[in-house]
Amino acid sequence: MSSNTPLSTKNSVNPLKGDAFLDKALRPLVWEEYIGQKNIKDNLKILLGAAKGRNHPPEHLLFYGPPGLGKTTLAYLIASELGAQIKATSGPAIEKVGDLASIITNLEPGDVLFIDEIHRLNKMIEEVLYPAMEQGSLNIIIGKGPGARVIQLELPPFTLIAATTRIALLSSPLRSRFSGGTHRLEFYSEPEIGEIIKRSAKILNIEIEDGAVTEIAKRSRFTPRTANHLLKRARDYAEVANLPLNQETVTKALTLLGIDALGLSGADRAVLEIIANKFKGGPVGLSTVATAMSEEEATVEEVYEPYLIQCGFIERTPRGRVLTDQGYEHLGQKIPTNRQNKLI
Ligand SMILES: Nc1ncnc2c1ncn2[C@@H]1O[C@H](COP(=O)(O)OP(=O)(O)O)[C@@H](O)[C@H]1O
Ligand SMILES: [Mg+2]
Repeated sequence: MSSNTPLSTKNSVNPLKGDAFLDKALRPLVWEEYIGQKNIKDNLKILLGAAKGRNHPPEHLLFYGPPGLGKTTLAYLIASELGAQIKATSGPAIEKVGDLASIITNLEPGDVLFIDEIHRLNKMIEEVLYPAMEQGSLNIIIGKGPGARVIQLELPPFTLIAATTRIALLSSPLRSRFSGGTHRLEFYSEPEIGEIIKRSAKILNIEIEDGAVTEIAKRSRFTPRTANHLLKRARDYAEVANLPLNQETVTKALTLLGIDALGLSGADRAVLEIIANKFKGGPVGLSTVATAMSEEEATVEEVYEPYLIQCGFIERTPRGRVLTDQGYEHLGQKIPTNRQNKLI
């Protein structure tokens, strides 16, 4: 470990990383199995029903929200409900205009094109996407200088589904072109997470007691991906230790992984500890926190902060991040007297 690593976050599990195959294996492909997000589901069912009635692909859709809440799952589910093919790519994978052109010109009528992390698409490519989304045509410039020509290619009707964890980084012209709707995924309730865990256990052939379901749900950050990940880790522990998967086993397994009673990992606690111990509770800028953690700003902002804010442990203020009284309490630290009951 490098000597400037300020706090040991590297040994603890990040429940939002890894296990891509698990994501895929557990992805619900019918509405009945997609738990929660009722409002979004109701809206989408109408959009899809109307599109089917008109025999035309639904209009373009944008999903946003923290990682692991089910954006990619929704894209695949919609394609499956439509009986359509899905072609998936991502913002960073489309480096040149030609990359996008080749994907789009290879679409077949009715296909779903899924672009993950659309906020990372560069502006030049975005501009090629506009007419494709609006008029179903692609303008390609051939040649350079005065001899350059624009050729227009007609595209088959298709539905673009895009996902992002950072809606604020999307330009407003791009945002406005998702005429089928823009939906924000919400954190799940504990009972919903419980249902997701039970469903996953069934698919993975895991025998689990109700107490264990509740204990995993409590520590899942209201996030399905985390729930599935913790279920698998707890199962591994139970198998190796030859124990039944009950509440006690889950508690032992997750404590060993550094996941606390509220589901905070070592890295989450490191965010709180840095603000408390190095910056007197804040306000402190995001980039400073990120540097102190040896993490990227985007990771701190998109992966750790949403849940810490949801828990009421930190607040984003115009002058930076501030640790709340509850944040101090969760760390088991005394609230500094000069700031009691009030945030700066
Ligand atoms: N509403 C849901 N019901 C059941 N499982 C879900 C739901 N949303 C997400 N999941 C599970 O969580 C995993 C992560 O979801 P994913 O769609 O990849 O999240 P995102 O794309 O938002 O990061 C999926 O594999 C799926 O098993
Ligand atoms: Mg995704």
